[in-house]
Amino acid sequence: MLSPAQLRALIAAIYALVATVSLMLVLVFAVAWLMPQENNTVAMASSAGPSSTAGGSDVVSSGPKPMSADALAGKATFTSLCTACHNANEDRLVGPGLKGVRQRTPGDAWLVKWIRNSSAVVASGDPYATKIFNDYGKIQMSSFTNLTDLQIKQVLDYIDAAN
Ligand code: HEC
Repeated sequence: MLSPAQLRALIAAIYALVATVSLMLVLVFAVAWLMPQENNTVAMASSAGPSSTAGGSDVVSSGPKPMSADALAGKATFTSLCTACHNANEDRLVGPGLKGVRQRTPGDAWLVKWIRNSSAVVASGDPYATKIFNDYGKIQMSSFTNLTDLQIKQVLDYIDAAN
């Protein structure tokens, strides 16, 4: 037979064992719960972002604001086709800095025509086109006839998001 002291020691040991096992289980569940989120930057960005826009379409962003998927696609197009001559901010390069371009030009439909073929818009006698063409020393901007309406909208979204 165990003495009362031995019995107490045994019970204490069992309690300690149960406590340790429970703690380990809790830890394992906690780690399993947290793991996928640690590797999922998109989920982190949208849950941690200060203000979610457009149904949680926020994605990874190095810029000042979270960017929509369209703006991110536009960034890629802009970087490969436009940065030789344009900055997305207000700084002039070969052509004007494009910050606020949606506001100062006649609008998105005009911009689509311009970006596809600016010389056709200049040749049509369009007053805004004529003015900007003259202001920039009559340098002819490249034509991007193969860009779709969506791709152009995405570039414009990127310019908005970058500012
Ligand atoms: C070879 C240089 C060059 C490239 C490449 C270029 N642009 Fe331009 N862009 C210009 C110049 C120069 C102007 C000023 C007008 C002119 O001289 O025709 C201009 C004007 C513009 C304007 C009107 C700006 C305003 O302030 O009203 C927009 C919008 C524009 N470009 C968009 C784009 C986009 C989008 C791309 C890429 C898909 C692009 N450009 C690529 C040279 C370029």
